[in-house]
Amino acid sequence: MSPDKPKEGRTVAESATEMTQLVLPQHANVHGTLLGGTVMHWVDLAAAIVANRHSRRPVVTAAFDEMSFLAPIQVGQVALIHARLTFVDRSSMEIRVDVVSEDVLTGERRRTGTAYVTFVALDPVTRRPSPVPPLVLETDEDRAEHVKALERRRLRLERRKLNAKD
Ligand SMILES: CC(C)(COP(=O)(O)OP(=O)(O)OC[C@H]1O[C@@H](n2cnc3c(N)ncnc32)[C@H](O)[C@@H]1OP(=O)(O)O)[C@@H](O)C(=O)NCCC(=O)NCCS
Repeated sequence: MSPDKPKEGRTVAESATEMTQLVLPQHANVHGTLLGGTVMHWVDLAAAIVANRHSRRPVVTAAFDEMSFLAPIQVGQVALIHARLTFVDRSSMEIRVDVVSEDVLTGERRRTGTAYVTFVALDPVTRRPSPVPPLVLETDEDRAEHVKALERRRLRLERRKLNAKD
């Protein structure tokens, strides 16, 4: 594979992913609400699908930014996991993942958390980071997310440098 970045871009919409999960007792903590670790597992999976769809390469999670849990999701409710790209560099991709609860009886929806996850695409043979297609920003929302992602990336890479010194 050429070391050059692929020239043909892909839009945010082309890789955007929505996962729907019914919250069952085996997903719950001792309070009868969805376990934080399970939420993070689903967030990771949805983000991986986005990264795979954009790059069409094997991908790995490189960084998981902090995630706040704004409200619990009860057993019997539905968790909707919306994931979409905000930023793409040479081999890395930042994905925003929003978690929303849905009460199946009333239809009421509530955002319960948001996470930013960075994935890196790998060359299938060498397993080294591999270039990904550019991200085509179509909407005002895509462009606004992209600007904020640049600052998050700067902070993340600074943290990476600091942690490397430990
Ligand atoms: C992620 C990984 C492939 C990066 O490899 P590396 O040898 O450090 O490669 P580089 O330094 O060349 O970085 C490659 C890209 O990853 C990005 N990256 C690496 N670590 C990062 C971090 N902590 N946060 C954000 N981006 C990171 C770099 O910025 C670079 O992006 P770019 O190509 O778009 O400029 C490597 O650290 C790894 O394999 N980590 C383990 C992944 C894993 O097991 N995940 C859990 C299971 S999927």
